[in-house]
Amino acid sequence: MDCQTKQRISLSEKLKLWPLSILVSVREWRFALQALPFIWHRTFLRSEWWRCLLFFQRSAWRLSVDYYLDKNAPDIHCFGETPLITLIRICRRVGIDANDEFLEVGAATGRNCFWLSSVVGCRAVGLEQIPDFVHRAECVASWSQCADQVRFVCGDMGEMLPGHPSVVYLYGSNLENELIQRFATLCSELSVGVMVITVSYPLTDYLQESFEVVDAFPVAFTWGVTTVYVQKVIRYD
Ligand SMILES: C[S@@+](CC[C@H](N)C(=O)[O-])C[C@H]1O[C@@H](n2cnc3c(N)ncnc32)[C@H](O)[C@@H]1O
Repeated sequence: MDCQTKQRISLSEKLKLWPLSILVSVREWRFALQALPFIWHRTFLRSEWWRCLLFFQRSAWRLSVDYYLDKNAPDIHCFGETPLITLIRICRRVGIDANDEFLEVGAATGRNCFWLSSVVGCRAVGLEQIPDFVHRAECVASWSQCADQVRFVCGDMGEMLPGHPSVVYLYGSNLENELIQRFATLCSELSVGVMVITVSYPLTDYLQESFEVVDAFPVAFTWGVTTVYVQKVIRYD
């Protein structure tokens, strides 16, 4: 797809989405203010500084749209972030602590992994399929001197789950059913008791006998309120 076509698509989309984007911006600011008390950690602030700098010229949203346009993906709007305050609420409710290894599936720019590794103190692994995101996140980890606690892997969530996670987090509301099915199968092969957190749908919808939903609660995103499902891996012998 040539640059002009990309430009035309982005301009018409921008016009259509203009009123919605104002509402989303207001919500984003409100969420950011609510998260303020939880960000005052030197390593996290350093990573935020480098992360913002690396996405200053070309935003994460733009980079993601360009990637999926080039791939001729049926849906090019795969980028979205869990508001930090929502992530904090999920972590508290699930009880994630420094002893955990957190795997974020579809980690995008890596912000959640940076927050968990620096503020909560757990090891964090981010799996993401856009190479540019992974490369930038690795730079941020190295420049913020936290590469011993957080790492990023470029790959497909339907094919691999790196590391030895005790907690897996997936926020992907427009993923194809077939991909979620493959992700659920990979999760079912993890150790019994591993917690898998999913936004908007439980994995029992895809693989009923391999998971037990242990908690479900409402959370806020910029686009509205949805349910987070916490399920643990089970196995019948
Ligand atoms: C909605 S964003 C979520 C970002 C981040 N996890 C958060 O909650 O703030 C979903 C991310 O998953 C990535 N993704 C989509 N399909 C994937 C796949 N098959 N394997 C790995 N990552 C994927 C997208 O590129 C995008 O960055």
